[in-house]
Amino acid sequence: MVARVIAVDPFDLVVFGATGDLAQRKLLPGLFYRWQAGQMPPEARIVGVARRKLTDEMFRTLARDSIAAHVAPADRDATAEEGFISRLRYVAADADADGGWPELAAMLADAPDRIRVFYLATGPDLFGPICDRVAAHGLVSDKARVVVEKPIGKSLASAKAVNDAVGRSFPEDRIYRIDHYLGKETVQNLMALRFANALFEPVWNAAHIDHVQITVGETLGVEGRAGYYDTAGALRDMVQNHILQLLCLTAMEPPTSLSADAVRDEKLKVLKALVPIAAENTVRGQYRAGASAGGPVRGYLEELGDHDSHTETFVALKAEIANWRWAGVPFFLRSGKRLPSRVSEIVIAFRPIPHSVFDGTAGPINANTLVMRLQPDESVKLLLMVKDPGPGGMRLTEQALNMSFAEAFGVRNPDAYERLLMDVVRGNQTLFMRRDEVEAAWRWVDPILEAWAASGEAPKHYTAGTWGPSAAIALIERSGRTWHEDGV
Ligand code: BG6
Repeated sequence: MVARVIAVDPFDLVVFGATGDLAQRKLLPGLFYRWQAGQMPPEARIVGVARRKLTDEMFRTLARDSIAAHVAPADRDATAEEGFISRLRYVAADADADGGWPELAAMLADAPDRIRVFYLATGPDLFGPICDRVAAHGLVSDKARVVVEKPIGKSLASAKAVNDAVGRSFPEDRIYRIDHYLGKETVQNLMALRFANALFEPVWNAAHIDHVQITVGETLGVEGRAGYYDTAGALRDMVQNHILQLLCLTAMEPPTSLSADAVRDEKLKVLKALVPIAAENTVRGQYRAGASAGGPVRGYLEELGDHDSHTETFVALKAEIANWRWAGVPFFLRSGKRLPSRVSEIVIAFRPIPHSVFDGTAGPINANTLVMRLQPDESVKLLLMVKDPGPGGMRLTEQALNMSFAEAFGVRNPDAYERLLMDVVRGNQTLFMRRDEVEAAWRWVDPILEAWAASGEAPKHYTAGTWGPSAAIALIERSGRTWHEDGV
């Protein structure tokens, strides 16, 4: 099966921070895939901007290298690659100086009516200064929009400052705040599952669901990002954005349509209904040396070279949503680095049957579980009780109705950035975070950070390659539940 491609209108995409990690690892390879698929019109231009003095040719060499490193050889067509490379330009400019900006303005002036995207693949401290210069040079045309990446602040106050700085130059309906989890295929499948099937909605509530688990596990450590990571930690890096977005899509009321504000209004209601979380319902951990991803690995403090850091590399929370649909249903959230496997999933654990008609020989009857696996191996799995085959007594066993997307569709799963970049060009904000959502998420997260800081306690240790500190297991088991393990 071949994925359907709908071409977008001609556009100019200006990538600030074009020589940086995000641009090289995700944006250029993602754009190349879209070009090769025929989604980008031939006149589209990608203008890299960064401080380094490079020629167009030098930037093109960087882009070739990034495609070679991040696109599988079997997915690369040499003619398409040269066509794509020919659409790249480069301008050296600095957010703090005048040089380069007139050149950028002159380049864009060739196509004043074209869709114009400014992608800020830089640190958030540069968002305001770059937007100010973009505006000062008259580049905010009617069709201009800006894309920003997390971290959007480190707290509610700093998030407001970042949002204000960008908002000086761009109105809210032209600001695209990326949370790349929203571009993942299974995350959108969550909406398809909930709202394109009549089956689930009647049972999607506290009367039928016992609890929900959201796990985003990584085997990686902090790699070359210790400088950033140590000022963030798992709560800011993963929960404030990705995990809360997954929670919102799982828990929100059905929106009236998939229009950007209809969906974002519903997500916002969930964020506002989150109950302030008590310290005993939080666990934070930090990995020590162990084994992960197939070999021995150093502990976080050794990687960092600072033995005083209290930054958490693992977090587990028991969250609650105070509304009619979810009152009394705990949402267990966890995320960490250096865990045993890279697995992200949403687990909906249904309530047990009210009464068993089977006798003791049937064996235990597990409650039904729906598992939406985001990565790896995107799938939706429903665990059901069935009869163990064969003659004899009625014995029960658990089996999975398993839909693996790779097997069902046999298409390459596009990277989240491919979809999100094209959505920006199309002007579709549904999968981007609105200002009030980001701020509501911080409003819930801030008190957790404050409570941790006030306690002065260090995070609990866990050995790299394990599922976090034992306190994370105790957190869920105290309420009589257990973390989902993939058994069938
Ligand atoms: C990023 C975090 O937002 O998401 C990283 O900053 C994390 O620390 C990454 O590794 C995980 O993304 P994915 O798509 O690999 O699950």
